[in-house]
Amino acid sequence: MKTMTAAKGFDIPTTAARLRIYVSVQKRCLKTLSGWFLSVPHYEDKYKIGYHLFEHCEHVGMWRQRLVELRGGKPDASISPALAQLLNEVNDAPDADSMIAALYGIIIRSLHTTLTQHLDEADPSANAAELRLLRRILPELESQLDWFEQRPAGQVNNDWLSGVQNFLDLQNDGLLGEGSSSDQVKIPNSRPFRRPTTITFDDRIGHEKLMPYEQREQLNYDESLIEQFRIFFNEFYAAGFLATILYDALDEGGYPWEMITDFSQHFWDEVRHSEFGAIRLKELGTEPTGCNLTLFHEAENMPILHRIVYLTRGLEAYFMPRKQPRAKTYQDAGDLRSQLFADQDWSDEINHVRYGSKWSEHLLEDDYRTQDDVIEEIKQHLGKVRGVECVAIAAPF
Ligand SMILES: [Fe+2]
Ligand SMILES: [Fe+2]
Repeated sequence: MKTMTAAKGFDIPTTAARLRIYVSVQKRCLKTLSGWFLSVPHYEDKYKIGYHLFEHCEHVGMWRQRLVELRGGKPDASISPALAQLLNEVNDAPDADSMIAALYGIIIRSLHTTLTQHLDEADPSANAAELRLLRRILPELESQLDWFEQRPAGQVNNDWLSGVQNFLDLQNDGLLGEGSSSDQVKIPNSRPFRRPTTITFDDRIGHEKLMPYEQREQLNYDESLIEQFRIFFNEFYAAGFLATILYDALDEGGYPWEMITDFSQHFWDEVRHSEFGAIRLKELGTEPTGCNLTLFHEAENMPILHRIVYLTRGLEAYFMPRKQPRAKTYQDAGDLRSQLFADQDWSDEINHVRYGSKWSEHLLEDDYRTQDDVIEEIKQHLGKVRGVECVAIAAPF
């Protein structure tokens, strides 16, 4: 007589349904972090958000890749309305500290629990493909949660936070639950999220009029170095552009996932370039004190295509000729610490210009305009905002 053994492992439909939920949850983490990156006030939190956003993006890519291989995988299938509403609620947090408390303390923690259970219950052979992904993804989520637990909680809106927690509890099976209908749930103190039009900082970081390039070049080595790393710190303006591109593209929908991936990487790079500034300024015995957001404010409301072209074919192309000589100057001076950062920055920028060409070409595929036409439209826009004709795309620093 045949004996039945206890079922272990996940069949294809269950695996596909779970992976689609992981995709949706982590895609929403990416979207929420891109929008709130602009308004979380401490720059150190912004740096962490930059790293975490890119991790979520990579995880979504891994889950999607597996879904494409699965019979009936459908990586873009919609999730339950209740789960979608729960994830929207987190985006509509009343303030930054509450958003972080809900996104990390409730959503990412719950995702971590679900993935750990998946890992424990998977069959080592039949589910080997998912196990490989789980073993790579879980440690990164753990380190996100470690950061959250060590971060001072700030002023959290506890009524709203309990509302979000109750909503999740009503789903019966956490993020996997079919959930109760949205009209049974009323969460107090929600605030419909509007993508910010500025980048907010705490009062350590004011508006700074950065020294123009030619003037910096006249300074002695040490003074020039400090001014240059202030420019690195200011790359928050570029990270901010990318955050708006990611948020608006995910909000509008219909953009290829590969484009979101490239601009998530680009976003993370700009966050790191700003971090280079903060690290090096401290090493040189000073602190970052300001940002100049003029370029961001003048152009954040242009269409996505124009923001991409302005940043990558306009500004990044404008700054590019300085990159190689800078790395060489630091190398010749034996300042290998500064050279390390300048060299990485130069390499990243080459990639950014490539992303810009690739995606502006894609977005212009069914358009009668060329990239040069778009650049003309950007100059018109900047001329209107500034009240003086914009002859060429340039930066004041
Ligand atoms: Fe950069
Ligand atoms: Fe860049």
